[in-house]
Amino acid sequence: MKETLNRIKAEALEQISSDIDDASLEALRVKYLGKKGELTAVLRGMGQLSPEERPIVGQIANEVRAEIEAAITAKKQELSVKALENKLIAEKLDVTVPGTKKKVGHRHPLTLVQRDLEDIFMGMGFSIAEGPEVEYDYYNFKALNIPENHPARDTQDTFYITENILLRSQTSPVQARTMEVQKPPIRIISPGRVYRSDAMDATHSPLFHQMEGLVVDEGITMGDLKGMLETFAKAEFGEDTRIRFRPHHFPFTEPSAEVDISCFACGGKGCRLCKGEGWIEILGAGMVHPNVLSMCGIDPEKYSGFAFGLGLERVTMLKYHIDDIRMFYENDIRFIEQF
Ligand code: DAH
Repeated sequence: MKETLNRIKAEALEQISSDIDDASLEALRVKYLGKKGELTAVLRGMGQLSPEERPIVGQIANEVRAEIEAAITAKKQELSVKALENKLIAEKLDVTVPGTKKKVGHRHPLTLVQRDLEDIFMGMGFSIAEGPEVEYDYYNFKALNIPENHPARDTQDTFYITENILLRSQTSPVQARTMEVQKPPIRIISPGRVYRSDAMDATHSPLFHQMEGLVVDEGITMGDLKGMLETFAKAEFGEDTRIRFRPHHFPFTEPSAEVDISCFACGGKGCRLCKGEGWIEILGAGMVHPNVLSMCGIDPEKYSGFAFGLGLERVTMLKYHIDDIRMFYENDIRFIEQF
């Protein structure tokens, strides 16, 4: 029995000291010390020993057990130290490696100008109104005093979804939509996408952006329109900017004007940007037509108003000297980053 115990001890110690992992170590513990383990089996057989031998073998058995337990505990400790070392090596971080720079996006020049204009007009008490890009013929044309077969429709040919639903060709329908639901005083701007059935070239795109403005209240005059546009022009193009009204026709305003600003590149002397004119056309404007007011449920005897509309691409191209509208839609970061 002594030999059996010594053999068990030798075997156990050898296996425990070999190159094993946690799971194998636990398997060894069960194999030697477990309830059905080899050592337990030996102890069970002690009943057959003589009374003299029993305490001697019992003591040896206890020593063997203690030694195996100690070896297992030591091995466990060793394995956990090794595991920690491996973990530290695996997770090693070289803080001296140069970082990788995250690329941050850049605002599109059209967005920059739109934000600029919004700031200027909000500073004058305007709020921002939005309207749908898929629009009824009614709001895009009829409510703006452009009935069927009116020649103004030819210059704003657009994309039709059905006979009565189209992609809006201007932001002006937001005027009608606003007046239908809001009573004066009204003071809104409305930037957004518009569509026209135009072929793409350096100055045309089937999709572009406009910004509409509308003011309706008692006693609004063309003087208010002029003063407000002058304030806007100075804020956007510089303190020295002057504005000029030229008579024009829009169906939804009466009287109507095209508005020029003095050339901000040459100050009005004439240069390449203004094509020698000294003036640059910047927007359309006028006093809201009484028909439009009454179609939208506002009494033209009591209220008057002015409206204006400008092309965001046009303003942006002028401001940043961009000579091809297609650049805006190519999404080339090398272009966008320049502004
Ligand atoms: N909607 C016009 C266009 O697309 C621009 C315009 C002109 C808007 C005069 C206005 C305005 O509000 O009063 O050509």
